[in-house]
Amino acid sequence: MDNTAKNIFFLGKGGVGKSTSSALTALHLADTGKTVLLVSLDPAHNQGDIFMRKFAEKAVKIDDKLTVKEVDIDYWVKKYLSDIQFQIKRNYSYLTAFNLENYLDIIKYSPGIEEYAMLMAYKNIRRKANGVDYIIFDMPPTALTLKFLTLPNLSLLWLDNLLDLRNKIIEKKEIITKVKVGKREFETDKIRNKLHEQIEDYKKVKAVFENPEKTCLNLVMNTDKLSFSESELIVDNLSKFNISIKNVFLNKYLDGFDSKIIEEKYKHCAVQIFPASEKPLLGASVLKHYLQSLPSFIRL
Ligand SMILES: Nc1ncnc2c1ncn2[C@@H]1O[C@H](COP(=O)(O)OP(=O)(O)OP(=O)(O)O)[C@@H](O)[C@H]1O
Ligand SMILES: [Mg+2]
Repeated sequence: MDNTAKNIFFLGKGGVGKSTSSALTALHLADTGKTVLLVSLDPAHNQGDIFMRKFAEKAVKIDDKLTVKEVDIDYWVKKYLSDIQFQIKRNYSYLTAFNLENYLDIIKYSPGIEEYAMLMAYKNIRRKANGVDYIIFDMPPTALTLKFLTLPNLSLLWLDNLLDLRNKIIEKKEIITKVKVGKREFETDKIRNKLHEQIEDYKKVKAVFENPEKTCLNLVMNTDKLSFSESELIVDNLSKFNISIKNVFLNKYLDGFDSKIIEEKYKHCAVQIFPASEKPLLGASVLKHYLQSLPSFIRL
């Protein structure tokens, strides 16, 4: 059973204010009485600097309502690799003759490991977030975030094809052994069962990402052209995967900018404005003070 916590993701171009917006939103929700877990999924963590505290993989309690953690991606990459090693050893025991350790060393440098490790960390966080109302994810810049969010979808495409291939391999046994392949051969095939298990697992993650009751995607942008165009790229890429942006956070807003352009472009999104602060937004008390100066905060 999935728990009832709602995922709140903050994404956008580098430097637009994803981490600051995540921290402000976490403090705002905690102030309204919600239990909040703020998680940095960016390997280059910023929350420690913003709160002027030391955070790590182990969550740190800020107060009764707010807890913060910075995911140790290296730890999850290692865990991901050791899980693969375990599975290969279990399912392909006849391969031990080929020095598996060397083979797995190469996997370490293959593209895509980081987002798989991030997804593993995400699943672990969600599984353990009992009693949490909101899990706020401060995300890395665009490229890695898009890979992470579309990973369940892409993995399912791969797994469907691999399952097809595995079924064909089992059928081929019939030709080699001249013994009729029955239902049992399919049901007891370890590789096929593992593929099914992974398919079910990714389907669950995908369902949570696509459910607006369980996941809310916030696009952070500034008022400059570069952040506009990267935002469009994010929206276009995600829409191909059935994932849509719920809110736009217009950060570092300066008086005089006409936010109607944004409101028209992102018609289906609520727009939260965060004015540019003259004072650096560092430390919980400065952030809280800034929140008090805002005329409103959108519903998440
Ligand atoms: N509303 C604001 N007013 C003034 N300064 C801001 C505001 N929001 C963010 N900043 C500043 O802009 C810089 C970048 O902000 P932040 O680290 O939150 O962005 P980011 O999108 O998380 O960056 P990265 O892509 O590097 O993770 C920081 O120095 C931060 O203090
Ligand atoms: Mg950041």
